[in-house]
Amino acid sequence: MADQAEALRRMMDTNRSQRTAERIVAIASGKGGVGKSNVAVNLAVALQRLGRSAIVIDLDIGFTNVELLLGARSRRRLTDVLHGTDIWDVINHSASGVSFITSGTQFADFGQFTPEQLITLVNQLKRLHEQYDFILLDGSAGMTANSQRLISAADDMLLIVTPEPTSIADAYSFVKFLYREHSLPTTHIVTNRAQSFVDAKNAAAKIQSVCTHFLNVSLSILGYVLDDVHVPDAVRKQTAVMTLYPNTLASKCIMQVAKNYLNAGESREEVQLKRGFAAWLDNMFRK
Ligand SMILES: Nc1ncnc2c1ncn2[C@@H]1O[C@H](COP(=O)(O)OP(=O)(O)OP(=O)(O)O)[C@@H](O)[C@H]1O
Ligand SMILES: [Mg+2]
Repeated sequence: MADQAEALRRMMDTNRSQRTAERIVAIASGKGGVGKSNVAVNLAVALQRLGRSAIVIDLDIGFTNVELLLGARSRRRLTDVLHGTDIWDVINHSASGVSFITSGTQFADFGQFTPEQLITLVNQLKRLHEQYDFILLDGSAGMTANSQRLISAADDMLLIVTPEPTSIADAYSFVKFLYREHSLPTTHIVTNRAQSFVDAKNAAAKIQSVCTHFLNVSLSILGYVLDDVHVPDAVRKQTAVMTLYPNTLASKCIMQVAKNYLNAGESREEVQLKRGFAAWLDNMFRK
């Protein structure tokens, strides 16, 4: 197992893409239903508008929310790569222009994968950087150990919270768990569904402060997405809100989050910018 991981790492060091901005970005939360999938899909649209390529990977095995949000049907799913399907054959393209890989409807959960299968999966996923700058992992609410490993080994994590106390408390518990049991990626808070920017800012500041105080971990605040009726409307129409209503409040907020994320990237060290999949594998097997 350790030998396999080492072999893969070596292989990736030699085949590594020269793209400087390649990042694996986990979209995660403590509490479910706070807007992860909507942020993931719309962030992909926003990044594309800003001239960067992105693909969304639905890690919520059994639920296929990403394909529903994009109004696209897919025959192949992420877990098919474990049975020999090439990664390029499980990619779907939606009318919004967002590429994605669906989780599939079967509960062949990551929890049931062997470590060797997980390596196969990651080894296939890493090839996506040949074509995409950003790989957005849309996490699930109740994560299994293997999903947690994938999330914790990402380059960055966007921690989605809403201003509700339950969401804030669960976000803290989630960060604490990842930090203690796996490892915490560079974490950026995004407050979603806030009624005002003041509410959004206060919620983000609360998480930031408890993480600093109790864990000595510093999280950055990436941005805020206001509550906007156009989001559920776009969900019902199975189109990304950024595509359907590009000038609505939520779309403008998400565009700002995307710009903030890219700007944060520019200030990162060159060595961090080039992490990509080689570092991902490395992180995943560190524990
Ligand atoms: N900014 C927003 N304004 C209004 N409604 C929103 C906003 N963001 C998300 N929603 C609504 O919140 C609900 C949950 O969103 P979403 O499915 O993206 O959450 P999730 O975190 O991915 O959920 P799960 O944990 O089940 O995967 C959806 O009905 C969506 O329409
Ligand atoms: Mg979701």
